[in-house]
Amino acid sequence: MSQLVRIGVAIDRSLLESFDTLIDRHKYTNRSEAFRDLIRDRLIKETTTRPDQQVVGTLTLVYDHHHRQLNDRLVELQHDFHHAIVSTLHVHLDHDNCLEVLVLQGRADVVRRVADALISLRGVLHGQLSITAAASADEVSSHQHR
Ligand code: NI
Repeated sequence: MSQLVRIGVAIDRSLLESFDTLIDRHKYTNRSEAFRDLIRDRLIKETTTRPDQQVVGTLTLVYDHHHRQLNDRLVELQHDFHHAIVSTLHVHLDHDNCLEVLVLQGRADVVRRVADALISLRGVLHGQLSITAAASADEVSSHQHR
């Protein structure tokens, strides 16, 4: 499909050393694949900052289910945003705490709004949204394994 093109990059020695340390820590076998992943990551970030861009995301929430009215508020909000929530996974972590993972899909601004609304609920101990894009696969997500 896509063709590999070789380029030369001038880079400070110290910056390259830091980069090598980083890619070593992340178990890359060569710099090229690490460069490609960095570029893809940056392109996806660029794409997903556009409010009207279609994105997918996962939202992870940890909360104490004993917290007053939290369960009701969580369910209420999830029904309000049902069009953006594809799936949810619930794990009872221990006696008090629950973990919930929501798969979100839709416009980037809507996905962020859903995440913000849920994370900011009183009683939610920690929440984290991870956004990616399935679009523009050619430039962004086509991994070359060679
Ligand atoms: Ni639970």
